[in-house]
Amino acid sequence: MTLLPMTEMLLKAKKEKYAVPQFNIINMEFTQAIVEVSTEENSPVILGVGEPTIKYMGMEYVMAIVEASMKNSSVPIALHLDHGSSFEVVMMCIRAGFSSVMIDGSKYSFEENIALTRKVVEAAHSVEVSVEAELGTIGGTEDNLHVDENDVILPNSEEAIEFWNHTKVDALAVAVGTAHGMYKIEPNIRFDVISEVSKSIPVPLVLHGGSGVPDQDIKRAIGCGISKINVNTENQVAFSDAVRKIINSHDNIQDSRLFLRVGRDAVKEMVRSKIRLFNSINKNDASFIKN
Ligand code: 13P
Repeated sequence: MTLLPMTEMLLKAKKEKYAVPQFNIINMEFTQAIVEVSTEENSPVILGVGEPTIKYMGMEYVMAIVEASMKNSSVPIALHLDHGSSFEVVMMCIRAGFSSVMIDGSKYSFEENIALTRKVVEAAHSVEVSVEAELGTIGGTEDNLHVDENDVILPNSEEAIEFWNHTKVDALAVAVGTAHGMYKIEPNIRFDVISEVSKSIPVPLVLHGGSGVPDQDIKRAIGCGISKINVNTENQVAFSDAVRKIINSHDNIQDSRLFLRVGRDAVKEMVRSKIRLFNSINKNDASFIKN
């Protein structure tokens, strides 16, 4: 089975009002857990890879592990660069075989973000790779990237619509009040912006910072037009808590497979609960899959 761009799977999600999950893969155990459960739940899935993960694993291992995980899977899978920081990183991922990329130009001015995103769209679309872009800033910490609460910028609907008209990306992540990492207080999500932008552009909207968002807010966001939700921190917390628990309760544990397995099982349960919450269960569509 080949990796797919996320375009069609997200358009279907937008039409049928569910969200395709993006789970970040950081090692073999996460990849196995995410692909296995998505297959069991018959859910399309987007495997997010951040630049720190490429540095940690090496590109060859990223590609080899993803390829191995897909061998026994029958669901649509996109391999997606998460928060690509430059045109060069995007090109490196496309050359390696990614089927989708995100260019995160949110650190630039509105005009510069548009110019960079357009350049990526032109290059990626010429080889059938889908593109996600970000407008505004998403707070919190992810990998080595931290955005302070005071630096969060939430764009208005008009800016988001204008951004899409100039870039024609396949999926748009508009900052709407969620943050990367776990929340100290409940997020105040701009559902009005989600609804307005979703009605005005033909492509799906993406919610970053999906960890710790209350279930009712996730459901409401999907109802308003979110079709892709990114989750990373909750998987990391599930893995670390499970591993910590077993190591702390077994003084002499030496075989790392014993605790890695426990961590992997914890990620599996988290992934299953998110797929069900996002209602992407049984949304596999054979027409996406090219063998
Ligand atoms: P969380 O780590 O908050 O789940 O966010 C993940 C994310 O948005 C990846 O881009």
